[in-house]
Amino acid sequence: MMRLVVLGSTGSIGVSTLDVAARHPDRYQVVGLAAQRNIERLREQCLRFRPRYAAVADARAAAELRRQLAARGCPTEVLGGAEAVRDLAALDEADCVVAGIVGAAGLQPTLAAAEKGKRILLANKEVLVMAGTIFMETVRRSQALLMPIDSEHNAIFQCLPDDFGSRGLSGSGVRRVLLTASGGPFRTADLARLPDVTPEEACAHPNWSMGKKISVDSASMMNKGLELIEACLLFDLAPEQVEVVLHPQSIVHSLVEYIDGSVLAQMGNPDMRTPIAHALAWPERTTAGVEPLDLAKIGRLDFEAPDPRRYPCLGLAYEALRLGGTAGAVLNAANEVAVAEFLARRIRFTDIAAVVESVLNSVPPQAVERLDDVLAADAEARAAAGAVVGKIAAA
Ligand SMILES: NC(=O)c1ccc[n+]([C@@H]2O[C@H](COP(=O)([O-])OP(=O)(O)OC[C@H]3O[C@@H](n4cnc5c(N)ncnc54)[C@H](OP(=O)(O)O)[C@@H]3O)[C@@H](O)[C@H]2O)c1
Repeated sequence: MMRLVVLGSTGSIGVSTLDVAARHPDRYQVVGLAAQRNIERLREQCLRFRPRYAAVADARAAAELRRQLAARGCPTEVLGGAEAVRDLAALDEADCVVAGIVGAAGLQPTLAAAEKGKRILLANKEVLVMAGTIFMETVRRSQALLMPIDSEHNAIFQCLPDDFGSRGLSGSGVRRVLLTASGGPFRTADLARLPDVTPEEACAHPNWSMGKKISVDSASMMNKGLELIEACLLFDLAPEQVEVVLHPQSIVHSLVEYIDGSVLAQMGNPDMRTPIAHALAWPERTTAGVEPLDLAKIGRLDFEAPDPRRYPCLGLAYEALRLGGTAGAVLNAANEVAVAEFLARRIRFTDIAAVVESVLNSVPPQAVERLDDVLAADAEARAAAGAVVGKIAAA
């Protein structure tokens, strides 16, 4: 029996994880759930899975959930505040922590799980973008088992040899990795229309159902930029060993090219329950509730190179990778602020890249020696992004 803590249980990743876990009650026991403030959904999850603990970052929402669960005789102990979320990630009674919180808020809880040597199902790519070297070093030191569930990275993991970790890239005969991207909802839109697209249009992803932030990131392709950084850290790749290729059907989730010319791809329907089930059960396999792939029905698989004019955020991510140090944290923080402001309709879609570029240029990268370096860069970049947004909104 694997005991699970699901961080971000009320979100898209969290719900998919609980769906897979519920299919195998003999294998997975949910011992902890964490969210920010959506207590309606968290209440239903607590009543269904009866975890030992629920942590709610918003302390007032925690108090309300505690009251509601007590009234229904649910034995779950409700804890409140960001610290409670972090403590839950480090829970002694848990074997596996699903890192499904969105954005920088997931950094400290995911690090806490790594420090405790847990099996970590990593969806929260922002952790690696912000503090990749610290996180990977913590994983190595504690011998945590890091399983990527971002579909592309899970695909790469599946296409690499089992002993890749000890043999490394050159010892495994890997030449490069091809990271696929759907291109989002604006792949074929007239470029002149992009400044006027709405948050609803940006969140209407053609293939995947996801939270709002990652949906906007997919539309701008900042998501692929974050994934590029994630791939370099997870698999110890140089940026030039990763090529981003557009694949509008989202059936091929990524590919690994070997020096003999072989290219291995992992395919499947675009449903996050596949990588989640893979990472939960690895090295075994288990059912995920996902429809079998019907290639004849899909008919064709297309690939094309991304147009840098349409997707400037991808170039900014390469730039952050080149700069190194705290540049990843700066890129991520500026993007989080810009996406939130776009969703709040205070800036335009095309301003997202402008805000990130301006902040990357104005906040110089520093060396990362400890977590405080990352947190300071995050705070500085958020302040700088706020100032740029203020100027754009006033113009
Ligand atoms: N969705 C996908 O298919 C997918 C695929 C690959 C990778 N990812 C990555 O997975 C992560 C989650 O994405 P998502 O689409 O599942 O996002 P989402 O649907 O917006 O869910 C976000 C989750 O994080 C929780 N949360 C937010 N701030 C928090 C805080 N301060 N403390 C505790 N919990 C907090 C939210 O709780 P409330 O509901 O209470 O606000 C919610 O449970 C992101 O890093 C994303 O890039 C997602």
